[in-house]
Amino acid sequence: MSSLPIYMDHHATTPVDDRVLAAMIPHFHERFGNAASSAHVYGKAARDAVEESRARVAALLDCKLEELIFTSGATESDNLAIVGAARAREARGNHIVTVRTEHKAVLDTCAALARQGWRVTFLEVDESGMVPVEAVASAITKDTVLVSVMLANNEVGVLQDIAAIGALAHEHDILFHCDAAQGLGYVPFSVRDLDVDLASVSAHKMYGPKGVGALYVREVVQTRGIPAPQITGGGHERGFRSGTLNVPGIVGFGAAAQIMKEEGKTEARRIASLRDALRDRLLDELEEVRLNGAANRCHPGNLNLSFGYLDGARLLLELCEHVAVSSGAACSSAESGPSYVLEAMGVPKEWAAASVRFGLGRSTTEEEIATVGDVVIDTVHGLRERSPLWKRRSEGKPVDW
Ligand SMILES: Cc1ncc(COP(=O)(O)O)c(C=O)c1O
Repeated sequence: MSSLPIYMDHHATTPVDDRVLAAMIPHFHERFGNAASSAHVYGKAARDAVEESRARVAALLDCKLEELIFTSGATESDNLAIVGAARAREARGNHIVTVRTEHKAVLDTCAALARQGWRVTFLEVDESGMVPVEAVASAITKDTVLVSVMLANNEVGVLQDIAAIGALAHEHDILFHCDAAQGLGYVPFSVRDLDVDLASVSAHKMYGPKGVGALYVREVVQTRGIPAPQITGGGHERGFRSGTLNVPGIVGFGAAAQIMKEEGKTEARRIASLRDALRDRLLDELEEVRLNGAANRCHPGNLNLSFGYLDGARLLLELCEHVAVSSGAACSSAESGPSYVLEAMGVPKEWAAASVRFGLGRSTTEEEIATVGDVVIDTVHGLRERSPLWKRRSEGKPVDW
């Protein structure tokens, strides 16, 4: 294992915590029952485990047990929230407001609705990645039925003003969905305190297993038949999402949520200070480095930097031998190309093409931060020494980069 690069891509996914794995294992064999088989002890044990996990996830979100629908992850939760809310509300209007920098699970779902005749406003963001609350206000029309804005951006970590946007949506009696897959447990997010009607979460972003997540739906919203189910079948999850429950996954999700609730705040402070140390060192010791995002409103584990006068693909290739990071572009979809998030923030394309997202997490240590700092500095210096662009710039000649 020691020859593997340092893992610094915790926005893409996190390793399953040992405590989570230990909780899951019995549910693959000894306690393998189907949570819907209520007649016998195998089924009852599975159902009890699911309900215990529901309570743990609900405690993290600060919601009631009946307000959670287990899904296969945040992508499915986003689809269920957006399509399910749109379908249930189509008699009232046909307009959705979202933001250009949302995850593809939101953007592509809204685009699919647009192809079916819905009107979708994709709002612009400012240079730090924030969507101004006034922009949301001006986009709202009498036909708006849903506003969808994420908690923390998965590329640049910027935290949106969920409290203000939720309050605004509710003033207009519009549903508010928040994709909270990134940052949950690290930044304050109580669905009770915030005017959030629907929230998507994912276990594998918080040291739980892949392939499991949940959609929070406010109780009063459920009573209005929202969301309209997207997967029909046996009527599981109170009819909102059919399909045999992934019991080991849900148990892992519950264990991960409980650990996050107990340790998230302390962990957030620790990783934010490591992140700040790495950021300050790289900005101090390297020339022509640009911070993407909002330093004062950021996911504690996120650092997104662009390195000027470099070939981004080459930089990533060399860095990834020692440290597993990603470029802003590679993290949210299988497509390559310049990051649409950085583009929306107005980052010039040559800078956007040489961006690196460092995602710190539970396993990140001070020693790793020191090593990663050394590696980045050496790699950038090495590439620049061989770069004709950098030579021209150093000679004060014009550079068409
Ligand atoms: C903000 C955000 N939303 C949704 C998703 C999709 O989550 P999942 O992998 O659980 O489908 C991700 C994961 O990349 C994400 O970062």
